[in-house]
Amino acid sequence: MRLADRARPNFNRSKFNQPGQSKIIAALSPATALVMLLALTGGVRADTIVIEASKDNTLYQSTGFPISNGLGTYIFAGKTNSGEIRRAVVRFDIAANIPAGSVINSASLSMRMSRTIVGSMPVSVRPVLASWGEGASVATGGQGGGAAAEPGDVTWEHRFYDGTLWATPGGEFGGTPSATTNVGGVGLYNWSSAQLAADVQNWLDNPANNHGWIVIGNEAATPSAKRFDSRHVTTASNRPRLTINFTPTGAAGACCVSGGGCVLNTATQCADLGGSHAGNGVSCAAAACPPPTGGCCQPVTACAALTEAACLTVGGIYLGNGAPCTPNQCPVQLEPFVDALPIPPVAQPVSGVPGGAATYDMFVTQQMQQLHQDLPPTKVWGFNGSFPGPTIETKTDLPVTVRWVNNLRDAQGDLLTQHALPVDPCPHGADMFGNPPHVIPHLHGGHVPASVDGYPENAFPPGEEVTYVYPNQQTPATLWYHDHALGITRLNVMMGLAGFYLVRDDFESLLLNLPGGAYEVPLVLQDRSFNPDGSLAYPAMWDEHFFGDFILVNGKVWPFMQVRRGKYRFRVLNGSNSRTYTLALSNGATFWQIGTDGGLLPAPVTRSSVTLSPGERADIVIDFGVYAASTQITLLNSAPAPYPGTPGEGVVPNVMKFIVQSLVGDVDALPASLRPVAPIPESESVQQRDFDLRKLTEACSGSAWFIDGLMWHDITEEPLLGTTEVWAFVNKSGMSHPMHMHLVQFQVLDRQPFVLNGDEIEVTGSRVPPPANEAGWKDTVRADPFEITRVIARFEDYTGNYAYHCHILEHEDHQMMRQFRVTCLKGDTNLDGQVDGRDIEGFVDAVIAGGPAGTGPFCAADMDDGGTLDAADDLAAFVDCLVDGTCP
Ligand code: C2O
Ligand code: CU
Ligand code: CU
Repeated sequence: MRLADRARPNFNRSKFNQPGQSKIIAALSPATALVMLLALTGGVRADTIVIEASKDNTLYQSTGFPISNGLGTYIFAGKTNSGEIRRAVVRFDIAANIPAGSVINSASLSMRMSRTIVGSMPVSVRPVLASWGEGASVATGGQGGGAAAEPGDVTWEHRFYDGTLWATPGGEFGGTPSATTNVGGVGLYNWSSAQLAADVQNWLDNPANNHGWIVIGNEAATPSAKRFDSRHVTTASNRPRLTINFTPTGAAGACCVSGGGCVLNTATQCADLGGSHAGNGVSCAAAACPPPTGGCCQPVTACAALTEAACLTVGGIYLGNGAPCTPNQCPVQLEPFVDALPIPPVAQPVSGVPGGAATYDMFVTQQMQQLHQDLPPTKVWGFNGSFPGPTIETKTDLPVTVRWVNNLRDAQGDLLTQHALPVDPCPHGADMFGNPPHVIPHLHGGHVPASVDGYPENAFPPGEEVTYVYPNQQTPATLWYHDHALGITRLNVMMGLAGFYLVRDDFESLLLNLPGGAYEVPLVLQDRSFNPDGSLAYPAMWDEHFFGDFILVNGKVWPFMQVRRGKYRFRVLNGSNSRTYTLALSNGATFWQIGTDGGLLPAPVTRSSVTLSPGERADIVIDFGVYAASTQITLLNSAPAPYPGTPGEGVVPNVMKFIVQSLVGDVDALPASLRPVAPIPESESVQQRDFDLRKLTEACSGSAWFIDGLMWHDITEEPLLGTTEVWAFVNKSGMSHPMHMHLVQFQVLDRQPFVLNGDEIEVTGSRVPPPANEAGWKDTVRADPFEITRVIARFEDYTGNYAYHCHILEHEDHQMMRQFRVTCLKGDTNLDGQVDGRDIEGFVDAVIAGGPAGTGPFCAADMDDGGTLDAADDLAAFVDCLVDGTCP
């Protein structure tokens, strides 16, 4: 239920009489009290009231259909990244709250700015000259894109959708600002001026002129948008409020209304309200009416009727004067660090042994799981009944076979015919599957044939399965598996479809002496939001990101972990849809990063924090050996959401807590060097490809994120098997994009800042190599705003189509995913990018070695794509083309 559905009195006392004063007066005889009262008040006094808006909304300039946000919790002013204008409108009912004839002494408008990506910008308010509406539209997520207008909504073109138009699109309003304030970071801002008071006087004297103010940002700058809380936010003190100081003319006086609070009116008006009138000329300050009460959401979950002041004292969220304590009204609040950290189970094979060549059955399942001790069980998806999924243990070069079965069933045991979350058909490909929950597993970081990579279009419904063989011919690393269904990946992963896949080898396990066994712990960080019944809260309509209110580690909200006094190796995975984390220890202690996405670093790197964007992993070692027993250390997050955003904004600070025990654990020293990482020389690259990352308008949902403005089916990258390329991600937007490539592990070459001059890039600094903790094998890299991030990769072993994309799953699902196709050059059996006499030797080797069609030199030697190598056809074709010079 929404706040707007409830009747809410729109007045509020900001200033109450000193409680002591009224008690003293009450204890005296009436005559003495009256004399004292008059002495205290001096007769008719100026009074101050605070009122809340009677309506508010935003005019969204857009090239598409009419957009509004009548019941949304935010209003906007300024220009977006893409240059579209937003103008908020807000109206206060003056005549209903101030007695006619009063003199307005001053007025101050307060609004809370809650999100921006720009610095301080002037924001002005001007009187609106015609009436406008607040309909039932509600935008989702950050709400910057608005929602389709509902009847009665104001839009850029309409005063009332879909009938009455503005005389001028963008609104009719006064030519000079009534007040202007510079708005910087998150916080409350005020607009106050003589003209603002004059506006209020005019609206009191001529209520028919009162159409409120329009809030206009810095429309000379792009971007300049500021987001303000609307009258529909939960916390009353964050809503737009108007504080008015006025002097009643004497024909009115304080009226204590039932339920608390004071209004100034005549005795008759007061009687109509069922209030008690203190007499004309008596100010509210002097009348000392009991303060109003309203719903107060107290920690952890209870709601009680309290005054605003009492609510704030107990650390509650005040819902507003007169707001009832309706069930589900209060946001879910959970106590941190009360559940023990779970460790995902190690997957047990149906044949073979964990950590060796083996075959697994992995059933995709739906189950109820308790994610916090004070939360009812949550419907989640997992593998073999576990969320996160079981950890698959493997060893380099020992293949693993996994039978992935979509076994999503309801409580009655019937296969699901509908997704557990609403499926928005806008994201590309979501409509391929309709409503049934299609899934397809992808091994993130895996160097695997295209046929087992989890091609997003090959997602399959409940009751079907695939069997994938993973060769594990790769460097040991923290890989992870997760769903990759086209257009619904964000929903499937939100439900829980992810787990660890660890590749090890003897060098690491036997020679390096890193913390292992109970001292080696995988940690997957996932943010979630809940409805009060425990179900996952996720918007029905696509939004450009999702940021949950709670951080789950291995499937529990803010868990704690008892640690022994010694070293622990944590394989940290950011498995969140959109949230980036900057992790640090609460005592400021340093730790070591020993590995990246694709394996160990050459040597441990000392860090005091590490930033992980979605999809990235960090292998870290923390030493608890230096602490006394019962020391508590919290793992904290400081990354804004969206990232990099505004410091402090959108941050969920708690992650998990470590509690040091007296027992001693692994106290061995870390090795000084780990696994060498040989840099790929840039000279090896045969070409550089540039990718433009930006948001563009999109017909279905208004906007979407794109790579080069192209779609999934537009394949323009065809690297040749055996060659090396540089990929440069040119981020022309204000937020970071974690760019991920399938098939390869790459190395980050450098990052270089630029500014946009129109559409042209002007670099403003030199290429900066990555810090030591990013100088290893990576498959996902943070491409920060207005930087060119270059990576270098070898396309080896397998041909075919592979995805590359932003790993913010909301971006990946809605256009920020494309595919590259690795092809082999026919005849180039030594895979050096050219066909010449030196390939004859390779041809002979390929015939002897054999191998699966489509891979390695075999692919190049199989001139006719026949799937076999033979001298008769393939060698003859090879020699012919060499002789004629017609080789590809
Ligand atoms: Cu982790 Cu294409 O994905
Ligand atoms: Cu991947
Ligand atoms: Cu992105």
